[in-house]
Amino acid sequence: MHDTRTDNWQQLDRSYLWHPYTQMKTAPMPVPIARGQGVYLYTPDGQRILDGISSWWVNIHGHSHPYLNKALSEQAAQLEQVMFAGFTHRPAAVLAERLIGVLPAGLRRIFYSDNGSTAVEVALKMALQYWRNQSNEQRRTFVVLDHAYHGDTVGAMSASADSVFTESFRSVLFPVARVHAPYCFRCPVGLEPASCRIQCLQSLEGILSANPDTIAGVLIEPMLQGAGGMIVWPREFLRGVRTLCDRFGTLMIADEVLTGFGRTGRMFACEHAGISPDLICLSKALTGGYMPMGVTAATETIYEAFLSDDRRKTFFHGHSFTANPLACAVAIASLDLFDQEQSLDRVRTLESMFQSRKTSLESHPHVGDVRAIGGVLALELVRDKRTREAGGYLDRVGPQLTRLFLDRNLLLRPLGNVLYFMPPYVIGDDEAHWVLDQIEEVLGQWQWPESGTPPGEQ
Ligand SMILES: Cc1ncc(COP(=O)(O)O)c(C=O)c1O
Repeated sequence: MHDTRTDNWQQLDRSYLWHPYTQMKTAPMPVPIARGQGVYLYTPDGQRILDGISSWWVNIHGHSHPYLNKALSEQAAQLEQVMFAGFTHRPAAVLAERLIGVLPAGLRRIFYSDNGSTAVEVALKMALQYWRNQSNEQRRTFVVLDHAYHGDTVGAMSASADSVFTESFRSVLFPVARVHAPYCFRCPVGLEPASCRIQCLQSLEGILSANPDTIAGVLIEPMLQGAGGMIVWPREFLRGVRTLCDRFGTLMIADEVLTGFGRTGRMFACEHAGISPDLICLSKALTGGYMPMGVTAATETIYEAFLSDDRRKTFFHGHSFTANPLACAVAIASLDLFDQEQSLDRVRTLESMFQSRKTSLESHPHVGDVRAIGGVLALELVRDKRTREAGGYLDRVGPQLTRLFLDRNLLLRPLGNVLYFMPPYVIGDDEAHWVLDQIEEVLGQWQWPESGTPPGEQ
């Protein structure tokens, strides 16, 4: 039956809204979603779409989970918001203790903010002021990795790789030092797996040894660089970053906004290398994907550098919604579910499934590389397997595949030529196999498109 309310929503959207990352002149109408349940999103007229990317990587326990809904509504009935300077509340304190219980050892102080970008901004600002408070102001340069993505605020953009996301803002971004990422499929030092001794780490070592007194910190996305192309790392690289930061006396900052809370098969990706960073940035799955919230956790050493009778050493940063009680309550409930639903086991099962289908996926003519870690499967598509040539982020591959999968009631949204599957952990085995079947069927019929972005696609 025709639903006039739906038409109206979409007209209101077109009249009044401006969507993120969207060329509003040419974009197709957005898909209206009325409700979510488990791994599915439902349109107002009942079309069921499997959420294959966890709604931008945030959802882990499924949509509209009864336990999380209950935590949220109970908290709303008690206290929805209070300022967090000079005031506190139980959910903020309990969540801090729970987080410290699961975070890599040594991370002892929790600072709340609003999202992944602010978690990174806070870490950068903490690092700078940590040095300044110790009269070490010359340490003000950050080392970041090629292909990095840390968010869209000015500091996070400065630390991210140059891309279409940052080019309009280049004039206001601060300079950083960029070093190789361990992107094995396109090895930055031209090696093959057999000859790899993690030589790509030498570019970080080179920068640190050439600038022993001026580096404030090294910022990385441990084990999995997300928006830069779902690049999965060898754990030795991560271990090497920690060793080099120790050797050169600088801070290691782990951006686990994507990888945190089980996505890579461990609670935090740093665990793959058995290391602890000095600062960690969290968001996305922190609240089970329910509420916008960021956390920057610091070691006690960093925290202590801000303790002083001199009030100028205070960390002058905060947000209206810092430690929002609703977000804290749902984050505590999300941690409960890790035990109740054995979430990490589910992620590991997914990883085994991805590995078991790797050979078959690799056999497709345009699949150059198959990468899997935890609950993330990425296929790097190439025009030609021999040359590994592929288009960039704005290539037609992404929007074209998104459309083909949506026609099959499956939400996948490739990053340029990198197609990935990152479902809520609660996805069933049959459902996950169904998604992999769709991927194989679509790739089996698909032709690499001519270059250029035609109107109506983006
Ligand atoms: C590793 C990483 N850091 C930071 C961010 C920014 O998070 P947000 O979009 O919540 O600002 C993202 C977002 O995708 C991310 O993947």
